[in-house]
Amino acid sequence: MASVKGSKVIAPARSVSAGGTDGFLYVGPYVHSIGLNDLQVIEEGVIAVTNGKICAVDSKDNLNRVAEKFGISEQNFHFLDNGEFLIPGFVDTHIHAPQYPNAGLGYDKPLLGWLDHYTFPMEAKYSDEQFAETIYNAVVKRTLSYGTTTACYFATIHVATAIVLADIVLKHGQRAFVGKVNMNVNHPSYYGESSENSLKDTETFVNAILSKKNDLIKPIITPRFAISCDMELMKKLSDIAKKHDVHIQTHISENRDEVKYVAELFPECKSYADVYDSAGLLTDKTILAHGVYLTDDEIKTIVKRSSSVSHCPTSNSCLRSGICHVRKLLQNGVQVGLGTDISGGYSPSIIEVMKAALAVSIDLSFEKDKSNQQTCALELKEVFYLATLGGARALRLDNKIGNFEIGKEFDALVVSLRGEPGGVDVLTPLNTLELLQKFVYLGDDRNVKKVYVSGKIVKQI
Ligand code: GUN
Ligand code: ZN
Repeated sequence: MASVKGSKVIAPARSVSAGGTDGFLYVGPYVHSIGLNDLQVIEEGVIAVTNGKICAVDSKDNLNRVAEKFGISEQNFHFLDNGEFLIPGFVDTHIHAPQYPNAGLGYDKPLLGWLDHYTFPMEAKYSDEQFAETIYNAVVKRTLSYGTTTACYFATIHVATAIVLADIVLKHGQRAFVGKVNMNVNHPSYYGESSENSLKDTETFVNAILSKKNDLIKPIITPRFAISCDMELMKKLSDIAKKHDVHIQTHISENRDEVKYVAELFPECKSYADVYDSAGLLTDKTILAHGVYLTDDEIKTIVKRSSSVSHCPTSNSCLRSGICHVRKLLQNGVQVGLGTDISGGYSPSIIEVMKAALAVSIDLSFEKDKSNQQTCALELKEVFYLATLGGARALRLDNKIGNFEIGKEFDALVVSLRGEPGGVDVLTPLNTLELLQKFVYLGDDRNVKKVYVSGKIVKQI
């Protein structure tokens, strides 16, 4: 599998202010999504970048005109080789950084048992700053290596090490949301917090992140899920989100026992989504992970509030949670992105999640066929959208990232299928769309040759 041997995750130059770099341009093929069903494949293009942002997108024929207009000198022309192409950086809309040591472990228990036996004991360790630093450096380096230019992280309940995660994200030059987790009820004795501390630490955390005044990092309010927070806490967290105009993330309807337990805890609410809606947690800046068992009514509520869903198919399979009907969410107008959900999911790679999204949607289409509720499986162009522009839209970052539109930040990957060190054999001539298919099905971090965030190189092989 993937090795980062020979690759460097490079801390961006500190002397350069956010987004500020010399202009440069790429000449060659690129692929990006304009919409769910609109994949653009350009075989001979030019993408020019100044101050970290895309300033021109043109055809190769106009290379010199573009270079002259934006004052880009020839030494800053990058010509892509055969087998190479550019794509936008991946967006991971749901990942638990502290759970990374458990990736690939403990899939013998479904969600609630898994949380008690594996996840809470691991998260409790993040009172230790040194441990947190080691693991958080590893997660950020690894996700960047796989091409995740934007990540939406859960940390733990510990405010100090949640800030450490934000600092490490900035050190490595990734774009991210980071959330200090809230859990005031139904938690183990060794891992939980009082309502008072939960609110105080959340305020401290939000202020600490906002005071960094760095466009790459944003705080996100993170009530773990409706089982871990009472209504009063959730309402007050919603007030904090409103006061600072920040995002919210949580889990919803992932597992049948979880849904049942939430119904028992909140008998006054008509559904899981209604619990969050009653607390004021469903906003146009809310991202809800999983959504496997959402009812039609709940989907309507989510659409009405313009909240988004993070689809986490590797996790849904590993924890035997179920299959999310992504097509139905999309048809109803829900914004959907992809999430690794480490360590519910085993892999920190969105490439792996794209493959899983394809596979489970094919399985679901067979199931639906059996009950005469035909649905089309997702196509590769659609999961590529979910991994890039869809994720950006779900996080309300699509004015900044997600594709190669003029004015957006240059968050991009140079993909290479040229042989060593990648493990993909290209044995016949392929066009760029075919190379993209090979990359999604057979590629890994060895094929992610360069990673840019806001025009700065953050990984280079
Ligand atoms: N629900 C509440 N907490 C978690 C978590 O850490 N992972 C997953 N997959 N679901 C959750
Ligand atoms: Zn999760």
